[in-house]
Amino acid sequence: MLAFRRAGCAGLLSLTVLGSACGGDKSAPPGILDGNAGAGGEGGNAPREPCAKSPKNVADTTLAEAYAQHFKFGVALNGFTFFDDASARADLARTEFNRATAENAMKWSSLEPTEGEYDFEAADAFVEFAEANAMQIHGHVLLWHEQVPDWVFETDRAGLLGRLEQHMAALADRYAGRVAYWDVVNEAFEDDGSLRNTPWRQILGDDYIQEVFAMADRYFPDAKLVYNDFNMYQPGKRDRVLRMLDDFDEAGVRIDAIGMQAHYHLYFPAIETIEEALTAYGDAGIEVLVTELDVNVLPIPNRSNPADENFDPDPYVECLPESVDALVADRWGELLSLFVRHADDISSVTTWGLDDGLSWLNGDRTNYALLFDRDLEPKSNYVRVIEVADE
Ligand code: XIL
Repeated sequence: MLAFRRAGCAGLLSLTVLGSACGGDKSAPPGILDGNAGAGGEGGNAPREPCAKSPKNVADTTLAEAYAQHFKFGVALNGFTFFDDASARADLARTEFNRATAENAMKWSSLEPTEGEYDFEAADAFVEFAEANAMQIHGHVLLWHEQVPDWVFETDRAGLLGRLEQHMAALADRYAGRVAYWDVVNEAFEDDGSLRNTPWRQILGDDYIQEVFAMADRYFPDAKLVYNDFNMYQPGKRDRVLRMLDDFDEAGVRIDAIGMQAHYHLYFPAIETIEEALTAYGDAGIEVLVTELDVNVLPIPNRSNPADENFDPDPYVECLPESVDALVADRWGELLSLFVRHADDISSVTTWGLDDGLSWLNGDRTNYALLFDRDLEPKSNYVRVIEVADE
């Protein structure tokens, strides 16, 4: 399944991050957006630009330290890190970050691929790694329509509620008091604010979100309960989430925070668009977590000319050109400045992965989505992010 084969702006974001993600992409040079940037890649006649190099003499601090004054700095971890405590990746994770999310280890398909056969190996290793390194643990995820085995849905309403309850009970039993935040429901709304028509909704009915939070409240009384979604800046989704918070309030159901998955692109959404949403959430008085931050730098497939034969979906195989690297650093700087401006409402920022080599945004292309390069060296965007902490 190739992300870049999808049409339109949404395609390059992810297989799940869909919708009209193109809002606010006003400043994108067409050459880069439509895959004809020509630099650093293979083929094409454009003159080659020098490759970006990761900077030397990086400031003697860490993301966690630099941002301690504002919010926690987290990272999504997978087995390359938590299964190998002596690895360079483990060192990097424990040095730079003070918060951790399991990228996949706590999803239903990892924990109970077959009914009744639990596999806690990865989740245990993740939790032990985080605890050993004093990283706050973010549990991801109790209810999602992806990475959940088919057998879960082969039942009726009462049966599905029973399975979810058992699932929560198993996690509560094993990790009671150890997980600080749980993503209770993930990606339940479309960008326009309508309810996503998942098997959860089809089987449990339109009011399932509140019911599931009430259930989570019983099993995880000590954890903060989070609603997590992508494109949380989209006005339709944003307003729907705000209405949901009011509804919970009225019904007396606990919800403690919202998670803004921040799967952004180099050129969109516009900072102002994200800021409008942050202001609205702040006004509503809800704690905000920036949960899944990464910045996709790859071109949008056939955006300006669907028949373009020169379209190169993977222009940076060899390296990222210096000029693009500089834009990437600017983008990360603007994003972190924005989060610092809203630090009163934001309790953590978490990058979705440790280093470029591990980012899910690579798919089968070569992306540069995170703060550390493939040799685990801090990149120009890291330097900018550290600078921004003190502005
Ligand atoms: C992604 C992981 O990063 C991939 O390794 C996996 O193959 C698919 O899921 N929204 C979420 C995350 O809530 O769980 C997703 O993580 C990215 C989109």
